[in-house]
Amino acid sequence: MAVFMVICGVVLCLCICSALLRWNEMRYRIKGLPPGTMGWPVFGETTEFLKQGPNFMKNQRLRYGNFFKSHILGCPTIVSMEPELNRYILLNESKGLVPGYPQSMLDILGRCNIAAVHGSTHRYMRGALLALIHPTMIKDQLLPKIDEFMRSHLSNWDNKVIDIQEKTKQMALLSSLKQIAGVESGSISQAFIPEFFKLVLGTLSLPIDFPGTNYRGGLQARKNIISMLRQLLEERRASKEEKLDMLGCLMTTEDNKTKLSDEEIIDLIITLLYSGYETVSTTSMMAVKYLHDHPKVLEEVRKEHMAIREKKRPEDPIDWNDYRSMTFTRAVILETSRLATIVNGVLRKTTKEMELNGYVIPKGWRIYVYTREVNYDPRLYPEPETFNPWRWTEKSSEAQNYFFLFGGGTRQCPGKELGIAEISTFLHYFVTRYRWEEVGGDELMKFPRVEAPNGLHIRVSAN
Ligand code: HEM
Repeated sequence: MAVFMVICGVVLCLCICSALLRWNEMRYRIKGLPPGTMGWPVFGETTEFLKQGPNFMKNQRLRYGNFFKSHILGCPTIVSMEPELNRYILLNESKGLVPGYPQSMLDILGRCNIAAVHGSTHRYMRGALLALIHPTMIKDQLLPKIDEFMRSHLSNWDNKVIDIQEKTKQMALLSSLKQIAGVESGSISQAFIPEFFKLVLGTLSLPIDFPGTNYRGGLQARKNIISMLRQLLEERRASKEEKLDMLGCLMTTEDNKTKLSDEEIIDLIITLLYSGYETVSTTSMMAVKYLHDHPKVLEEVRKEHMAIREKKRPEDPIDWNDYRSMTFTRAVILETSRLATIVNGVLRKTTKEMELNGYVIPKGWRIYVYTREVNYDPRLYPEPETFNPWRWTEKSSEAQNYFFLFGGGTRQCPGKELGIAEISTFLHYFVTRYRWEEVGGDELMKFPRVEAPNGLHIRVSAN
């Protein structure tokens, strides 16, 4: 009997302990932070993150699952790789999940920059921006300018070794300047280019305001760019001539509700230049790389573009219908964007303590909506490591729920169509005019940014 009582006691104790443990676990899950490690004081796990790149994320995912805490790039951060949750985060800015880009970026891009504004201000700034780059504008105003620019930018490459990284960077910036303010590759752009490059460098640096730092250089570049843009605004006002470019449109929004201040106009222009610069240039460079490495794909792309050219005289520009017919080229651009992962993810910040995925996330923490892993998910993209543009040729492929190449929700990229139109036009003139081979030996980095540290050199010859 005594033995029986002891056994019952032990079983009861075990039951109570197990219930307590489960309750504690549930309490941790409901009330606490997600699992993960925070690394060293102040530095957190930034060094491991930058050194190991995507492998750091993969390892943490294996240990802690799709939702874990860390401390990277100077902030306590939650990394989310859960597709459904990522969708929720991107769709719910109004619940307190606003953009969480680094301070240096916000300081240098300006307080009216689109990533710095929320709620109704974001809505009207975004509205003003969309009015400049929506498909009708591309069709009627922007595509002719892009065509003219690409024709001239891609002339005289025959028999030369060129650095395609440098060319696509110049292309992205100069093509935008032409669309925004009719600026040709002349004197003003010569002064503008180095300042813009300093500005970009500053946004990617630590906010240390000392002489010689990239951050200080970025702030100074912002000042110089503002004074160039102010001068442009003054010249426009003095001449009274209405110009049919983006600046002209921004300056003639007469009704008071949508009238923008000069500060807002300038920050919108900087937003346009900055957002389209690295995305368009890097996707173009990587498309050239993948086309070089996949002759069958190149053949198909060339066929598509030759068919367009055959119906035209050499001096005829490509128009909207031509662009819409470039369906395989569009697939190549999407596949390039996926496989190279031009954008690793997007950053958000909590504006109040909030519950996410059963955990409580404190106010002011960053949420890294890390979309890179989704790009390589074999359930969404069979044989994910293969460059296969044909996977995008189904019409619905861009409409699937976890298509995050251009972000999602209220901040989904408004420049998607314009960016694709620019890259398509670039590829049109590139593949119809030239053949190329890589000089070889150039290194390509895929993380934290996709870049060729010493350039990507190709030997070009006429078609
Ligand atoms: C292939 C090229 C491009 C890619 C892959 C790309 C990708 C993205 C992504 C992922 C976002 C979401 C950012 C976030 O949620 O925080 C975004 C937003 C944005 N993109 Fe793009 N983009 C491209 C081209 C462009 C171009 C050409 C422009 C402008 C002319 C542009 C303007 C913007 C702007 C203004 C936003 C912020 C929207 C907002 O906050 O409401 N993008 N882009």
